[in-house]
Amino acid sequence: MSPFLLTRTLPEDAAGAELRSDVLHGLTRTPKELPPKWFYDARGSRLFEEITRLPEYYPTRAEREILIARAAEIAAATRARTLVELGSGSSEKTRHLIDALLPGLDAYVPVDVSRSALRLAGEALTAELPGLHVHALEADFTRGLALPGTPGPRLVAFLGGTIGNLLPPERAAFLDSVRALLAPGDALLLGTDLVKDERELVAAYDDAAGVTAEFNKNVLAVLARELDADVDPDDFDHVAVWDREHEWIEMRLRAREALTLKVPDLDLVVPFEAGEELRTEVSAKFRQDGVRTELVTAGLELTHWWTDAAGRFALSLATAV
Ligand code: AVJ
Repeated sequence: MSPFLLTRTLPEDAAGAELRSDVLHGLTRTPKELPPKWFYDARGSRLFEEITRLPEYYPTRAEREILIARAAEIAAATRARTLVELGSGSSEKTRHLIDALLPGLDAYVPVDVSRSALRLAGEALTAELPGLHVHALEADFTRGLALPGTPGPRLVAFLGGTIGNLLPPERAAFLDSVRALLAPGDALLLGTDLVKDERELVAAYDDAAGVTAEFNKNVLAVLARELDADVDPDDFDHVAVWDREHEWIEMRLRAREALTLKVPDLDLVVPFEAGEELRTEVSAKFRQDGVRTELVTAGLELTHWWTDAAGRFALSLATAV
């Protein structure tokens, strides 16, 4: 049997249909918004990798520090034989976890919407670790997932703080769906960025080199390419604000002048007033009590809470009850 399998659970044009529906709904509502998942075409994914190396963007480094320090404890606590990673991307940080879980680990199941990322990461892993079954799933982890029948115990990892991109009701639905993938005793490893000083948070989303601004505007380049939209990303300014009531960062694109964004394919003509903003991302920041409560509500019990030395980011380990 080939040690690398890739299964697609999305219909061929699922992404196109969803993009059209998200654009149609998001740009005709008030205030205007688009979901952050559309940042990540090839250029957006490259820009995100660049963001993770910026001096201001601490979450990736902080999470890697925790993973390196705690991988052995995670392995001992879970004794996972199958590791499922939601939104696996390059699988770069996960390598620490995989190494700690071997030799008991039988299968690694990376789940991502990017086929190219899955191929790259999966083929590199199987070349280096010939004993490991890598069963990649090209799928949207916010939809119902069907996992391969690899042996338990299972550990589901959702890293990077990406759970913060979901709004609270979406998070609850997502955690319910994760719980449904687990048997009692199986585990979830969850990365969350933490509430901290506003200046440090805003700087992480508004870096001096302007990479995050390019990343934010990239969603408009995606609309131009995928939907033939008539829009110039440079007609917008990048905005990052801390919402202290909700404890989340919002990224927005602010129209410099009054303008009209047109998507002829969708019969869509969207007027922007000068200064009007389009919300492109929510990135929620967490506290331990909040994480524990959201986990309990989904039938998951928090057993370990680890932060980096500077206390900026947390990894939670939770057991399905
Ligand atoms: C990949 C979703 C965790 O919210 O911090 C980085 C994406 N947005 N800079 C985050 C992002 C702006 C990132 N996540």
